[in-house]
Amino acid sequence: MSVAIKLASPRSPSPFSLRDFLATRTTAVNRTLDQLLPAATTKPATIHRAMRYSLFAGGKRIRPALCLAAAAACGGNESDALPLACAIECIHTYSLVHDDLPAMDDDDYRRGKLTNHKVFGEGIAVLAGDALLTQAFEIAALSRSWPRYSHQAIVLELARAAGSLQLIAGQVADLEGEGKRISARQLRYIHERKTSALLCCSVRLGGMSANCTPAQLKALTDFGYHVGLAFQVIDDILDVTQTSEKLGKTAGKDTKAQKATYPSIVGLERSRKIAEQLTERAFASLKGFRGKAVALEALAEYLLRRDR
Ligand code: IPE
Ligand code: IPE
Ligand code: MG
Ligand code: MG
Ligand code: MG
Repeated sequence: MSVAIKLASPRSPSPFSLRDFLATRTTAVNRTLDQLLPAATTKPATIHRAMRYSLFAGGKRIRPALCLAAAAACGGNESDALPLACAIECIHTYSLVHDDLPAMDDDDYRRGKLTNHKVFGEGIAVLAGDALLTQAFEIAALSRSWPRYSHQAIVLELARAAGSLQLIAGQVADLEGEGKRISARQLRYIHERKTSALLCCSVRLGGMSANCTPAQLKALTDFGYHVGLAFQVIDDILDVTQTSEKLGKTAGKDTKAQKATYPSIVGLERSRKIAEQLTERAFASLKGFRGKAVALEALAEYLLRRDR
């Protein structure tokens, strides 16, 4: 698949601006997603409207940004990574649509808007999630392969991150942990799977789209793992410390649902410390990129300091 979108290089002579990076990449990702998905009027229009409703509701596009930044760190062409970045965002959005269902976290707001099931009903929300997940694999199937990474390797990467040993395993453990006293070790298991696996997959696919070396892939895996864990610790902290308006989703839901979270197990202060340590570990993984990973570094820093 060729998606001809011009992307400014994050390694331009002017100082790197994460704000510009996120803005330009979000625009590119949104435009590409719009091209890749069936139009809202395509029959059956309800499902395509529902898919697009959540996909274009205003997510931060962190996973696509990580994917593109990883491609740049490995000296690749970001345009090659763009379809994969979009596939990941489809999987992420599907996971949110299902996560919000009454049978799961039962949330009414997401990305500053009513949740998918609140607008389209539970049946269509289940199907919109199913369709977004399937759409991701269609996009991956249409993408190209690279000398070191076959087409099969790309599809396998997505399937493994989203499957019953990773993202789904995390969501299962998250649900089963509600109302229970669980250990920090069990909580780590949940975070590794429900969140870190897809962030890790994002940077790995970015690297693979740049035909990265095995050493680069290993470094990206380490980076994605630690940034992914930090990301969920911060998500848990924000649930306690931020307003619903700021988050675009109902704050305080974890306490209400008696979710196992870092703040509930080790307290806020210790949780912040853990997020900082995880981010330090993520930074350390980037040493081998020698200044080429500016966007990844800036993203890791931003994800630690974010307030939404
Ligand atoms: C929320 O992810 C779900 C988690 C895995 C914590 P994001 O905070 O990236 O959500 P959006 O995409 O910006 O809505
Ligand atoms: C969501 O975790 C993880 C997935 C959707 C895979 P949370 O349930 O903590 O995410 P939010 O807080 O609803 O965004
Ligand atoms: Mg959840
Ligand atoms: Mg939730
Ligand atoms: Mg949360």
